[in-house]
Amino acid sequence: MTITIVGSGKVGAAVALNCGLRELDDILLLDVIDGLPQGEAMDINHQLSELGLDSQIKGSNSYEEMKNSDFIVLVAGMGRKPGMTRMDLLNKNASIVKDVATQISKHANNATLVVVTNPLDPMTYLALKTTKFNKNKVIGMGGMLDLSRFKSYIHDASGCSRASIQAMVISEHGENMLPLIRFSSIGGIPISEFLSKEKTQEIFDKTKKVAAEVIALKGATVYAPGNAVATMIESMIKNKKEVIPVSAYLDGEYGISDLCIGVPVVLGSNGIEKIIELELNEYERKTFDLGVTSVREAINLINQK
Ligand code: LAC
Repeated sequence: MTITIVGSGKVGAAVALNCGLRELDDILLLDVIDGLPQGEAMDINHQLSELGLDSQIKGSNSYEEMKNSDFIVLVAGMGRKPGMTRMDLLNKNASIVKDVATQISKHANNATLVVVTNPLDPMTYLALKTTKFNKNKVIGMGGMLDLSRFKSYIHDASGCSRASIQAMVISEHGENMLPLIRFSSIGGIPISEFLSKEKTQEIFDKTKKVAAEVIALKGATVYAPGNAVATMIESMIKNKKEVIPVSAYLDGEYGISDLCIGVPVVLGSNGIEKIIELELNEYERKTFDLGVTSVREAINLINQK
């Protein structure tokens, strides 16, 4: 098997490192910049060698080398600058994603595609429509990253071990993301048993804003996205069937059709094996629908091009 990562910037390299540290497979790093994927591959191979881990990382500037890849991670594109929203990247990244997705369908049309490029949900939809892959094989990495932040804040507020915390975040990977307090727990116990309504609302709000804060401080988010992609791929490569929020194509689920947005799914060897439909309360549904509207508007803009 091979995992190909298209885009060897900071996040792409972090994906390669996290997949290598888990010995998921051999990895191909691709980029248009001469030398960048090759240098990243060498550096990561040196770390893996010292650790005695046998995933082999290769760097290349040739799309043809992704041939027969089992997994493709699409992370190519512009990252947010401080003060930008993910949706601000729509026009620039739509053309990049369309070009890369065309190459993927040409050279690796049996692969499972994990999309990372922002704005995540519209880019996942664009990649699905461009590759014409099965809807269960095009998966957006958004909610997995958002829940890692939600978990971090629950840990900080409760003082309980991170190992005991389960969290769920759905809807748009963007301004309308929905941390699901009712479906998050510590040791299986609802977080409402540990945290006040005020504190819960505070971490709800912080979860939505923290990526922009990290970008303002260090220029990009890197390690958490790299880990989130590796966790998703591990669940599929090892057929772990983990329940993970991802941007998935909805075909009637949640009463929504022809759109990609964050929902809980079962991730196994067939990719998205099941979309889990939660009974959302009025507030949750209202926020979810704000995300749907935002993603639908972005898709309409893409389709007008
Ligand atoms: C973030 C970017 C990857 O949330 O959207 O860090």
